[in-house]
Amino acid sequence: MKNSLILFCCSLLFIACVDNSSIPVDVKTAPDNSYYKEQYRNQLHFSPEANWMNDPNGMVFYEGEYHLFYQYYPDSTVWGPMHWGHAVSPDMVSWEHLPIALYPDSLGLIFSGSAVYDAENTSGFGEKGKGPLIAIFTHHDMAGEKAQTKTFQYQSIAYSNDKGRTWTKYADNPVVSNPGIKDFRDPKVIWHAESEKWIMVFAAYDKVRIYNSPNLKDWTYQSEFGIPGDKRLWECPDLFPMKVEGTDLTKWVLITSIQKEGPNGGTATSYFVGGFDGKEFKGDFKNQKWLDYGKDNYALVTWANVPKEDGRILALGWMSNWQYAQIVPSKKWRSAMTLARSLTLHKEKNNDFKIRSMPVKELAKIEGKSHTVDAKVYNETTEIYSSAAQTLFKINLSFKKPASNTIGIRLSNDASEYVDIEFDGVANRFAINREKSGKVDFSADFPGIHFGEVDYEQETVDMLLYVDHASVELFADQGQCVMTEICFPTKPFSKIELLVKKGSAELISGSITELKGIW
Ligand code: FRU
Repeated sequence: MKNSLILFCCSLLFIACVDNSSIPVDVKTAPDNSYYKEQYRNQLHFSPEANWMNDPNGMVFYEGEYHLFYQYYPDSTVWGPMHWGHAVSPDMVSWEHLPIALYPDSLGLIFSGSAVYDAENTSGFGEKGKGPLIAIFTHHDMAGEKAQTKTFQYQSIAYSNDKGRTWTKYADNPVVSNPGIKDFRDPKVIWHAESEKWIMVFAAYDKVRIYNSPNLKDWTYQSEFGIPGDKRLWECPDLFPMKVEGTDLTKWVLITSIQKEGPNGGTATSYFVGGFDGKEFKGDFKNQKWLDYGKDNYALVTWANVPKEDGRILALGWMSNWQYAQIVPSKKWRSAMTLARSLTLHKEKNNDFKIRSMPVKELAKIEGKSHTVDAKVYNETTEIYSSAAQTLFKINLSFKKPASNTIGIRLSNDASEYVDIEFDGVANRFAINREKSGKVDFSADFPGIHFGEVDYEQETVDMLLYVDHASVELFADQGQCVMTEICFPTKPFSKIELLVKKGSAELISGSITELKGIW
């Protein structure tokens, strides 16, 4: 969003004048078999059937279902009065759409937030001896915003006793009132076993605030964390412990999405690693890291209540960027989520702690035929796959690190549109070039070459790519450098070339796996 929500809403109004169509939602039984087959419709990713979506919200695993709520405006393909849309999945791969879960009310629009399973019924909202699901969200009061009150965002809760199908808003909302901070939103709640309290972290303009509560209803301010002097707007934080791989150490991670100056421009998701004692997050504010170097992974947060025996930290983000999200060329709906990812924390050679993200293993379910790519030295750009009928891919390549040239992958179609995903052996960085990727002229911020930093020494360059009709996700070097980028080729990419810019590329191993759509 723009710095000021007011400015933001004005620009929305402008865009809404250009494109204010309310689009009826298709039914899955569409007789012409056109369901989810529109141009630019991703086949591997979650997207709403119609109209506008932004951040993932309320992600909680409960009784075999991964819940995904999301910022949703059901009356247009641009941002507007926010609801929580809802979908569930058994595996974070295939999704079932459910009716809208939360509607705006007299306290305001329903902005981003989270959900938890209140197993011990600390809230008292449970029924029949069972704890409820509790959604914690921001109410955004439009009238207060217009009147420039500065107190128009506050945190509220709702509960459900039927697996998230219906929700009752708490009669005494809001549960956290606003002391006069204009941007005061996006609560994420976790259970902190050591202090036996619920912890709420949310964004308060250029910082996060931390509150605690015994019962999800009564909240007490504890602390805040920010970068002194840094005035960028923070949104959608998350706070959780992570075991450092291969050690007995546990660190706390604070995720925060940043509204501008992401690594390649616009909005992006960042994190800090530190400690948390139930009251205060202590981390090095000078050491802000990017979870994803691509332009299109915002508001990423983790799933709550993932079973202990699973033990993974599971997350996904909104696959777009506020710079152009509202004018991307899809017609009936706008935006998709990233693939679900599993996050792990590693102590690197320089003793720094870093998150690696890899696509969840459940994606193996959609794998079809796999083709081996010849392991050899390639002296020039070489076609390694082509089939007009197949347009969804997982590509897995391991190269010897090139000393002085650039190698990678070109995805293309017969309309001469392409995306290059490269590693530059001199600059020691990854890049995605989407300048000629199809429809790019809708925003000056869209086309371009975007870079993914690697500050580690490497002997091999490993590229794992998921290619969908309107996105490319690169998980390089076992998830150390991740780049998520959307693109709008007028026809899906169906040709894959191994790219060699000067010199040669030594491929150690490679495969191309055809994927099946999830819809
Ligand atoms: C992030 C965000 C949140 C807010 C929501 C409104 O993309 O701006 O801070 O709650 O979107 O839709």
